[in-house]
Amino acid sequence: MMYAPVEFSEAEYPRVTYQKRQQFWDPIRLALFTLAIVAIIGIAIGIVTHFVVEDDRSFYYLASFKVTNIKYRENYGMKSSREFTERSHQIERMMSRIFRRSSGGGRFIKSHVISLSPSEQGVNILMVLMFRYPSTDSVERIKKKVERTLYQSLKTKQLPFSISKPSLRLTPIDNRKMRSLLNSRCGIRMTPSNMPLPASSSTARIVQGRETAMDGEWPWQASLQLIGSGHQCGASLISHTWLLTAAHCFRKTKDPSKWIATFGTTITPPAVKRNVGKIIVHENYHRETNDNDIALAQLTTQVEFSNIVQRVCLPDSSLKLPPKTSVFVTGFGSIVDDGPTQNKLRQARVETIGTSVCNRTDVYDGLITPGMLCAGFMEGKVDACKGDSGGPLVYDNHDIWYIVGIVSWGQSCALPKKPGVYTRVTKYRHWIASKIGI
Ligand code: ARG
Repeated sequence: MMYAPVEFSEAEYPRVTYQKRQQFWDPIRLALFTLAIVAIIGIAIGIVTHFVVEDDRSFYYLASFKVTNIKYRENYGMKSSREFTERSHQIERMMSRIFRRSSGGGRFIKSHVISLSPSEQGVNILMVLMFRYPSTDSVERIKKKVERTLYQSLKTKQLPFSISKPSLRLTPIDNRKMRSLLNSRCGIRMTPSNMPLPASSSTARIVQGRETAMDGEWPWQASLQLIGSGHQCGASLISHTWLLTAAHCFRKTKDPSKWIATFGTTITPPAVKRNVGKIIVHENYHRETNDNDIALAQLTTQVEFSNIVQRVCLPDSSLKLPPKTSVFVTGFGSIVDDGPTQNKLRQARVETIGTSVCNRTDVYDGLITPGMLCAGFMEGKVDACKGDSGGPLVYDNHDIWYIVGIVSWGQSCALPKKPGVYTRVTKYRHWIASKIGI
């Protein structure tokens, strides 16, 4: 629509001003003005309510109790063992069953088993329980509520584990204590406010993907940089000092003094920076076939675990992911083939692809060895790309994250029938243990 210019003669001018003044409070203006005032008041009330009434805060408790219907097993002492992982999941699931549907006004967030230890006729369980309650509630009042819910479910619910009532102890703990207890376990993500992050539902991608806005979403992600020429590869923190990465990242140089590692969701500025003191490349790495594309890099000084920096779990060598399992790949790599490195960390949800499919003549025609794992989509579109190499492909098992792949190679990026190829970490579980003892 076009607007024709209106011209006024000098003589008409006074009449126009007069009319304007009289019409200033016409019904439409009045209505809009009222609406604006109402909106402002509404927003103000909303903000006040949010901070005064709805202000929940986290409450953490350390729970210890004895379970009498299971026997202690040697491997419960090893937190990376299948036995420990499975038992903890069962106990954590029981806790959600107890608290999820309980009344009490608050909200159960989640629980994590810290340790399983032997006791006469049974197993002692130490675990952290996390709740959100209105901040006006007191720690002791909530403790009573939690205890009551627990006691009640011991009596009324059919629980898989027999908890001995007299052994049950509940101790309120603060943020720092909770964090340090959880640090004894790998693969747990937290937001900066110490709220546990839910399992990600994002379907974004590295190629054409979204930036990871949240700090602490992928706290094991590291950037390996050559001093003077910047980001080269991704890597994953697996202990206080060790990074897991790809062998091909060290084609240019294996001299550790030329390398640094950074952590955090941006390359510049990094949240944490460390020098590299040692590099171990797989002795059977083949640059022609990309077989055994795995390496370890040790930091000269250890990193403290926090919300921002955390280690990922190594999977048991027996872990098998069926085709079409949802996994995530993250990295600072390019978003188009041959594009530049990204300063902000990106993530993509991809799906595992069976080796028989990946080795088809129309896919990778037999190039996939037992030490490799394909992930992506047959139609392409979502993939890792140049610069993501060495970075993690992770799998979420009940809020505990495991590294199942290392970004290794692929034909171009995100092409149909050319998914990403990753180093199959389960295949190298014993190699890792033989090199660094974890
Ligand atoms: N080799 C590449 C690098 O050095 C990563 C390749 C991953 N490619 C892929 N299409 N998934 O960064």
